[in-house]
Amino acid sequence: MKFISKTLLALSLMLSATSLCRAEKVTVSTKGTSLVLEATKGEHLRIVYFGKALSDRDASLLTESGFRAYDAYPVYGHGNITMDALSVTLPDGSMALELVLDSYTRRDIHNPSNGYNAPEDAVLTTFVLKDKVHPVTVNVNYKAYKDVDMIETWTEILNGTKGTVTLRKFDSGYLPIRRGEVWASHFTGTWANEASLVEEELRPGTLKIENKDGVRNAQTSRAEIMFSLDGKPTENSGDVIGAALCYSGNYLLEVVTNDTDYHHFTAGINPDNSSYPLKKGETFTTPELALTFSSEGLSGASRNFHRWARAHKLAHGDKERKILLNSWEGVYFNINEPTMDKMMADIAMMGGELFVMDDGWFGVKYPRKTDNSSLGDWQVDENKLPHGIQWLVDAADSHKIKFGIWIEPEMTNSVSELYEKHPDWVINAPGREVSTGRGGTQLVLDLSNPAVQDFAFGIVDELMTKYPGIDYIKWDANMSIQSHGSNYLPKDEQSRLNIEYHRGFANVCDRIRAKYPDLTIQACASGGGRANYGVLPWFDEFWVSDNTDALQRIYMQWGTSYFFPSIAMASHISTVPNHTNMRVTPLKFRIDVAMSGRLGMELQPKDMSEAEIKFCQKAISEYKEVRPTIQFGDLYRLLSPYENKGLASLMYCDESKDRAVFFWWKTEHFYDQHLPRVKMAGLDPDRVYTVREIDKLSDVSLPFEGKSFTGKFLMENGLDIPSYPDNYMEKMRLQGYSSHVLVLEAR
Ligand code: DGJ
Repeated sequence: MKFISKTLLALSLMLSATSLCRAEKVTVSTKGTSLVLEATKGEHLRIVYFGKALSDRDASLLTESGFRAYDAYPVYGHGNITMDALSVTLPDGSMALELVLDSYTRRDIHNPSNGYNAPEDAVLTTFVLKDKVHPVTVNVNYKAYKDVDMIETWTEILNGTKGTVTLRKFDSGYLPIRRGEVWASHFTGTWANEASLVEEELRPGTLKIENKDGVRNAQTSRAEIMFSLDGKPTENSGDVIGAALCYSGNYLLEVVTNDTDYHHFTAGINPDNSSYPLKKGETFTTPELALTFSSEGLSGASRNFHRWARAHKLAHGDKERKILLNSWEGVYFNINEPTMDKMMADIAMMGGELFVMDDGWFGVKYPRKTDNSSLGDWQVDENKLPHGIQWLVDAADSHKIKFGIWIEPEMTNSVSELYEKHPDWVINAPGREVSTGRGGTQLVLDLSNPAVQDFAFGIVDELMTKYPGIDYIKWDANMSIQSHGSNYLPKDEQSRLNIEYHRGFANVCDRIRAKYPDLTIQACASGGGRANYGVLPWFDEFWVSDNTDALQRIYMQWGTSYFFPSIAMASHISTVPNHTNMRVTPLKFRIDVAMSGRLGMELQPKDMSEAEIKFCQKAISEYKEVRPTIQFGDLYRLLSPYENKGLASLMYCDESKDRAVFFWWKTEHFYDQHLPRVKMAGLDPDRVYTVREIDKLSDVSLPFEGKSFTGKFLMENGLDIPSYPDNYMEKMRLQGYSSHVLVLEAR
């Protein structure tokens, strides 16, 4: 293989794509990362390297250094038995493809802001691969961002044959990962226990991470994975590859470890029950797979994802989030005007900036009293709210806060006016009794149907047209596709349902955002069921979990933070006993955990004591002071709750390293417990930081309050944090859940 230098490469790109005629190495690069491919016309396109940025010289010598190359987009059927990213059945019934490089192009992309995502500057490299026998073309794309270490890959599969090509597996991308002691970090979970961390060494066999829910694709497993290349995962050192599939629907991530020296990683739409009939002339575009590399451990890979998210993949990622009160755990379905008004007054008094009215406000013929009716009937229930929505918007205004509202646009109930009118709009296997979900009556609307898409868009459009003062929408989704069948899709194309549902969802979201770019929208799906980069570009944040217990939240927020930034993680102070697991924790502990994300409240303030109200008022005002550091700062996870050391700790540092916020939460409680001292990270070793505790329980100060230490000392040693207060009984009562939040300011 002959290497061509950058200049030669640029020259060759200026020539026509067909001039490509000899062995070439093409590097796709970000500031810190290189992806090197062997791109020779008429041969397989191969990946030879993905990792820390290489010099031209080193990249040129990869083959000589013994590095092996693997097909960049492996296909099934001819010569490849390791694993495939694409498998098809051709019109003549044959199942073999062999893709070779025809040409490639490289171009700068400058996408202006769409009003809710920031502008984009990237370089797009597209390799055009063609089958040797049939007119099937696959474009393999790599988009390298200029401002963050992130490369997105996806493909376009073009059917140039005269018949239908059935896609049986159609991944977004593939990556070979050199064997050694490689560990995978990924997530499992369920409702109320989302993003539970799994760490395992990759062993021979296949690791499969998949989702088949149809709607909520992040509730159980998640479409993200990190690979620690230097042995057991560590937070702030070691080489790590991070990968996130940006897709709102069913997915499959696979790592095959066989008799080669590599692990073979693919990710894409889950092909199970979703084979896709690609018509003559049609192109299928796969969702993006985002890849990053960091030599600063798991936290380093997380920081790359967070920067990319805030800059490009999250609605309004550069705007501070408001502190809100959500009505759900406070009143559930018991909504009425005086209660809403009082809740608004209370959150305003505590310093909050937004009130969100959750489920229970709608339904005329079938008023929504509990979860067994009315979804789809988005008219206000005047028995509960006689003056309608505008009255609430005005009330919020009079309290000098904003107003938000809950909807669940993709769903209906068999007890609803919508279902009576449009029974054919629901997803259900033909000729079978409807399969219901929540409340025994919930049903999923068929978003593959354009009429249903119009309806879902219309829900938001009508609310926003009638009540332009609405500032925030909580978009919920509480059911899976559990009975496969669409009245809209042709009978012989029912296997498209899972994919068409998400095309419909994307269409609705695009339309909403085109018309309402400034609206804040939360993605909720029975909690954290939609924490995924395929969803986030339209949304500002997601509800991490319906479980608001502070202790369990430390674990869930820890896992969630691997890929998602704090600004997207809705984290609320709730009451005790906790409504999910009945645990009783001190208010300070609940605040200190909620403060590490996008702070909010999820309770009935009128049930709080005066002292509790004051305590929250103070915490909210302190949070506002440090909000930019928490919401935009770089995350350094320091001590994992999953290590079972009795403690969990993390910190956020401003990019300038002027200020940091350090969180310390005790996760276990034993007499004679010896907690480790936590070394900090991310500070400037040469600067001096003054320590100040916020959300203090009493006037008793920690020994280092107001004292100044070098960043070097704090990172090499850390501060020894005692459990307070000194009173023995009080100490025993509280120390089980003791916690501290320290602000470090550089002089
Ligand atoms: C599930 C959500 O996760 C909750 O926060 C709440 O909005 C309920 N749905 C309302 O039905």
